[in-house]
Formats: sequence, structure tokens, C-alpha cells
Amino acid sequence: MTLQIGDSAPDFTANTTSGSIRFHDWLGASWGVLFSHPKDFTPVCTTELGYTEKLRPKFEQRGVKVIGLSVDAVGDHERWADDIEATQGARPRFPIIADADRTVANLYGMLHPKADTTMTVRSVFIIDPNKKIRAMIVYPASTGRNFDEILRVIDSLQLTDKHKVATPVNWQPGDDVIIVPSVSNEDARKLFPQGWNEQRPYLRTVKQPA
Ligand code: BEZ
Repeated sequence: MTLQIGDSAPDFTANTTSGSIRFHDWLGASWGVLFSHPKDFTPVCTTELGYTEKLRPKFEQRGVKVIGLSVDAVGDHERWADDIEATQGARPRFPIIADADRTVANLYGMLHPKADTTMTVRSVFIIDPNKKIRAMIVYPASTGRNFDEILRVIDSLQLTDKHKVATPVNWQPGDDVIIVPSVSNEDARKLFPQGWNEQRPYLRTVKQPA
């Protein structure tokens, strides 16, 4: 089964560096980011995990729990965490799933056999408090992901859930946003009384709502 945006995030029970978890219970009422790593003791993953730990306060400010996955055992993850701390200056304090039998990797389609038959690709699933998949990012093993971009996507999702806006190309928090086309000008006058910049009837930009 290929997971798509809007699908329920499959639930699972797994061993992690923080003990056994049932995924949906662990998420609780939070947003979640589930991301896979091809293998322990690999260089790109080492940098990604150290950087994610440094970003953890920013995820927490947004009500987001992060959880990694790699297809090795908990003992390997723990020894690898020593290396991550020594080389990246941050030891992952978020759970890392030990998916040696690839149960979770298969459930989430993280194995792409034409890329590699045993290691996962670099998948990211952004999951909302209703346990719905809201965004997915997939990179090959050789390309480290941009975790600042993951935060940016979460900022966009959380903003556009609250207001009838969408975020334009390369948007950063605080930049102007776009009034969604389904909002008529009559309704827009009520929602955005300060007015908007209309470049085309379908391209109306407005200051980011607070
Ligand atoms: C890495 O994480 O460094 C890596 C893993 C698999 C293939 C290439 C790089």
C-alpha cells in the first residue's frame, strides 16, 4: 500500500531507544515527524540526527514530537548515539526506532528496492494531531535532508490550518501569504479588513495573520 497525504498514519508497536512504544499513544495530541535512516553508523545520518537534536526545542515549541527509525537494533543505536554526540555535539534524546525486521519500514513504504534492497530511503512523514499524514518527503540515501525545511513545512501547515491562506514559493514565517482562491472578495474583506494586494483575481497576497 502506498501512503498518501490525508491517509491515517499506520499505528505500530516498536522497540526504540526510549523503550517500547505504541506509536499513536506515544504521539498523543501532538504533531509528529517520523523519519527513516538507511543504516546505523553511516555518515550522512550521523549529521542529520545530531542536527535534529539541536532543533528539538523548535519542534517542541510547535507541539511536534520527532522520532527516527533505522534498521538496526537498540544496542547499535545507543553505541551510534555516542558517536553522534562526540562528532555533532548533540546526543539524540528523541526515540529512534529499532526496525531490524523492517516492520515499520514496510508499513510506511520506506524500502524502495530499486534504490536498495535492505536499507531504507530517507523518508519523512509529518503527522497531525488527528494522526493524518499531512506531508511526505523522500530523499535518496546519498542526500542529507534539510530539517529546517521540515520546520518550515510544519509552520505552513499550522498557519494554513488556522487561516484561509496558503504559503507561496520559498515562504518563511512572517512573509506575506496568499488568500486561498475559494475565498470570495466579499468574504476576504471580512477576513482581511486591512486589505490585500491583488496582482490577478486569483493571486491576492496579504500580511501573514498573527
Ligand atoms: C549515509 O547515511 O551516510 C549513507 C547511507 C547510505 C548510503 C550513502 C550514505
